[in-house]
Amino acid sequence: DLTGRTSLRVPARAAWLAELADEAALPSVLADPRIADGELLVLGGGSNLLFAADLDGVALALTCDAVSVVADDGDAVIVRAGAGRGWHDFVLHTLALGLSGLENLSLIPGTVGAAPIQNIGAYGVELDHRVHAVEAWDRDAGATVRLAAADCGFAYRDSRFKREPGRWIVTAVEFALTRRPRLELAYSGIGDELAAMGIVAPTPAQVSEAVCRIRRRKLPDPVLLANAGSFFKNPILPAAQAAALAAAHPGMPGFDAGSPGLRKLSAAWLIDAAGWKGHRDGDAGVAPGHALVLVNHGGASGAELLGLARRIAGSVQARFGVALEPEPRLIGAAW
Ligand code: EPU
Repeated sequence: DLTGRTSLRVPARAAWLAELADEAALPSVLADPRIADGELLVLGGGSNLLFAADLDGVALALTCDAVSVVADDGDAVIVRAGAGRGWHDFVLHTLALGLSGLENLSLIPGTVGAAPIQNIGAYGVELDHRVHAVEAWDRDAGATVRLAAADCGFAYRDSRFKREPGRWIVTAVEFALTRRPRLELAYSGIGDELAAMGIVAPTPAQVSEAVCRIRRRKLPDPVLLANAGSFFKNPILPAAQAAALAAAHPGMPGFDAGSPGLRKLSAAWLIDAAGWKGHRDGDAGVAPGHALVLVNHGGASGAELLGLARRIAGSVQARFGVALEPEPRLIGAAW
């Protein structure tokens, strides 16, 4: 039963579930004919998965969670963490070691191993800015590989691990952190929060605290109200189309998309403007505090949540001519 294994807590089953505390056991587990021939889904914290149907195959969870320092030149420090380590717990651990780099990514649900799959990001920092290397089992090659960050195909909420499902099992991630703080405070909300906290020269731990405060205020706690964070990616459009929309809708936020010809819009704003914030169809709903977050009030199925997501995307398409794409991985359905 995988129901309690995803943060959206929709009912789902798999043929069987394997839990592995030691990545060295991977080759022998993967050689089992029940796994070798069927679909394999690697489970992290389940905070980026929506089961629209049962899994026709095997679920695998890695629980290896050791953290170690693998290089240290006095400022630049490489820290390695096992895939099963809880993400936020790991961020706090690096801060306790006096290291900077991950503070903006505080309180993101999920595990270290899941973080590179969708290249998590928040408040001006994307995971790939901080990844040194990813260790993974390559099912095609039947071997463990160590991919430098540049070989991971990272893009906005995307990676080659996400684009090649079934091939990679991330076993550990190495992060490039620093002792000298390298704070990223460009996201205006962080500066405002620090000012409200009365802090002028923040430490990395104080930036982490500011991020936690913002997230707790805006985003529903998945323990109290089941959700998978942002359900849609922020759409990236040709700059001309974005400019036309901005002219028609004063106040619509737009962001740099890393290239002059492109502009990233706010999916939350589009969904909110289309009237969906706080909407509820049975137990499938939109968070009252943030239009980008779909929630399960208790008894919603994955298919019901997916149906709601499609209605939301359809209405944003009709109203603004913008296509939305889901951020979580869909199991048993295509978008
Ligand atoms: N907004 C609305 N209505 C709402 C919520 C937000 O109009 O209900 C507007 C806000 O006023 C703001 C804009 O939408 O102008 C953006 O909102 P926010 O700052 O909350 O960020 P976001 O673009 O919705 C992204 C990430 C989050 C990340 C935050 C902070 C994506 C898909 N989401 O959200 O990541 O925490 O920025 O950096 O990129 C996640 O990926 O699961 C996630 C939570």
